[in-house]
Amino acid sequence: MSSQGQSSAPMRVLVTGGSGLVGQAIRRVVKEEGGAKEGEEWIFLSSKDANLINKEETLAVFKKHRPTHVIHLAAMVGGLFKNMKCNLDFLRNNIYINDNVLQAAHEVGVVKVVSCLSTCIFPDKTTYPIDETMIHNGPPHDSNFGYAYAKRMIDVHNRAYFQQHGGCYTAVIPTNVFGPHDNFSIEDGHVLPGLIHKTYIAQKEGKPLTVWGSGNPRRQFIYSLDLARLFLWVLREYPEVDPIILSVGEEDEVSIKEAAEAVVESLGFKGQVVYDTSKADGQFKKTASNAKLHRYLPDFKFTPFKEALKETCDWFVANYETARK
Ligand SMILES: NC(=O)c1ccc[n+]([C@@H]2O[C@H](COP(=O)([O-])OP(=O)(O)OC[C@H]3O[C@@H](n4cnc5c(N)ncnc54)[C@H](OP(=O)(O)O)[C@@H]3O)[C@@H](O)[C@H]2O)c1
Repeated sequence: MSSQGQSSAPMRVLVTGGSGLVGQAIRRVVKEEGGAKEGEEWIFLSSKDANLINKEETLAVFKKHRPTHVIHLAAMVGGLFKNMKCNLDFLRNNIYINDNVLQAAHEVGVVKVVSCLSTCIFPDKTTYPIDETMIHNGPPHDSNFGYAYAKRMIDVHNRAYFQQHGGCYTAVIPTNVFGPHDNFSIEDGHVLPGLIHKTYIAQKEGKPLTVWGSGNPRRQFIYSLDLARLFLWVLREYPEVDPIILSVGEEDEVSIKEAAEAVVESLGFKGQVVYDTSKADGQFKKTASNAKLHRYLPDFKFTPFKEALKETCDWFVANYETARK
């Protein structure tokens, strides 16, 4: 399915979830890397501007800003352990947020919406590498089925929207994102920011670093600033309603053990590292193919993992007092 969703007038872009990990990276690329073109207006929302779970507040904020384009990031987001505790909340909150945002966008005449799915919403039992055609091919992993089904409905919504109204509402599918402004909570955050925080504390207290799980699961990580650059390309150029995976290559997948070792190196941690195998591992792997991205952008260069991780660790140490944790 292809629909350009482009117009010649300068864009007015509303970014939902503009205060989060991905939103802050887009803000930086727009403001500091010349990501915005002349005449464009970029508005970054946080939950303080509108609670997008609420339909009236959502429509009001869209009527206030009258965007032509939307990057929709706002979501209830969390790591494995928070997902396992709160599948119902992840399902309901995200269904409401997505329906409210996409419907409000329609009501104010938005030309293009780029929403955000995730590779962790793909079927648990699948063949690898996973690609964009496989989203609905079977149940997601038990640990995060609430989040996964709510996210999958964005793709259903986009296709139905195209069929009924012809507009270009599309979605990107990033792998695990990390970078400055992440949620570094050990209990509720994703694996990498959680590891960074734990290592920082272990270093400070002179104690061993305990990594949850066996360390064997494998993940592809994408630096938030690379993702932000790709988001701008999708908003401006990607012509399809069907989603696109934004990921480093399959060869760049790393085990949690390798990720932990890279964090240890970045923070200069000298203590002992132990693996607590009584804690859940989550899905063993979810290797994604970036072949579609590669066909569109064969020359895109991802920041090397260790370089991006070092920048993230340095940011966390420099912003320890105010970082989300
Ligand atoms: N992080 C990853 O590894 C990853 C991987 C794949 C896909 N994604 C997707 O990428 C998108 C951005 O994720 P992120 O990691 O940047 O998340 P994040 O750092 O947790 O940020 C979430 C954003 O959503 C906003 N938000 C949450 N609930 C809201 C509500 N009820 N009303 C209005 N705004 C609300 C938050 O606003 P406040 O700051 O005001 O709370 C914040 O700006 C999400 O759609 C997520 O599913 C993330």
